[in-house]
Amino acid sequence: MIRRALESIPTYVPGSAGDGSRPTLKLSSNESVRGPLPSVAAAAAHAVAAANRYPDMAATGVRTALAQWLSETSSLPLSVGNIAVGAGSSALIQQAIQATCDDGDEVIYAWRSFEAYPILTRVAGATPVEIPLDRNYRHDLRAMAAAVTDRTRLIIVCNPNNPTGTTVTRTELADFLDMVPDDVQVLLDEAYFEYVRNSSSPDGLSLLAMHPNLAVARTFSKAYGLAGVRLGYLVGRPEFIEAVNKVCIPFSVNAVAEAMGEACIAAGAELRARTDETVDQRGRLLDALPEDLQVPSQANFVWLPLGARASEFADRLAEAGVVTRCFAGDGVRITVTDAAETEALLTALERARVADFAQV
Ligand SMILES: Cc1ncc(COP(=O)(O)O)c(C=O)c1O
Repeated sequence: MIRRALESIPTYVPGSAGDGSRPTLKLSSNESVRGPLPSVAAAAAHAVAAANRYPDMAATGVRTALAQWLSETSSLPLSVGNIAVGAGSSALIQQAIQATCDDGDEVIYAWRSFEAYPILTRVAGATPVEIPLDRNYRHDLRAMAAAVTDRTRLIIVCNPNNPTGTTVTRTELADFLDMVPDDVQVLLDEAYFEYVRNSSSPDGLSLLAMHPNLAVARTFSKAYGLAGVRLGYLVGRPEFIEAVNKVCIPFSVNAVAEAMGEACIAAGAELRARTDETVDQRGRLLDALPEDLQVPSQANFVWLPLGARASEFADRLAEAGVVTRCFAGDGVRITVTDAAETEALLTALERARVADFAQV
């Protein structure tokens, strides 16, 4: 017998790679355009050679490396007990829900936000409470705090928000954390943290000491270019990390991902420098859009709030050879990568007559 509840849960829709009928530029999944550094690829090859063995169940190597690196960058005394790793940060978000919610407990998040939130919430048997973004496509943190009930177990804040690219300020987040009861867990999803360049947006780690009910999720999928091997991490107080690890599928972080993650940490500055190019291209792309479609983004994508015309626009861009992520009736998200792909994208935007979509 299949659980009845699954009938009403949508399947996660991954970014399309096109229909194969023509060469396409895939700007639908917020991936990095560059492959792993030689040092990272070498670490993978080394791990593959020992693939007959199970990985270290506790992933001690990469958790130790993360604790050391994040302690240095955040000045927090972090240890392995403060870090969980998962098969992508998606897995950690799922584990965070499972670790906090019984049937019918509530998970609050903004909407529109990362598509996996409603799915993972429902799969866990919890109830989604979706708080609309404000008119500037930003989290309405006051409304989110006001939505807390005695069934609320978890609040997810996505910063920068996927798919709108908008950020909350440090003051807004700190005020929000002051409003949230101490026994409600807050998960700050910073999947796109490395692309943030505005100084008003917080580094989630800097709020951990003041707010023990906060945990911060990040990923190696985006800025570190490891989307294909699945590695994310979560930083928080040891009791929460222990609970998150309890609901983990045994050995879910594989040895190749662990080795590549450690190599990425060792090569950190070089990989983070790659994000500068994406940030430059983000500015270039935003400048090329009609003014009323320019939503300031701090991530490796931009959001075009096209409403009812989203599908028409995405179709036109696909005809011009660029595949994007369309949320029908709402908007289109376009991934930003390097200069060459942005050049091709700008040509396609012209061919798709983006100016027709200006709403003024
Ligand atoms: C906001 C957000 N959080 C988490 C993730 C999960 O990424 P991964 O599971 O690859 O670490 C994504 C992926 O697109 C995302 O957009």
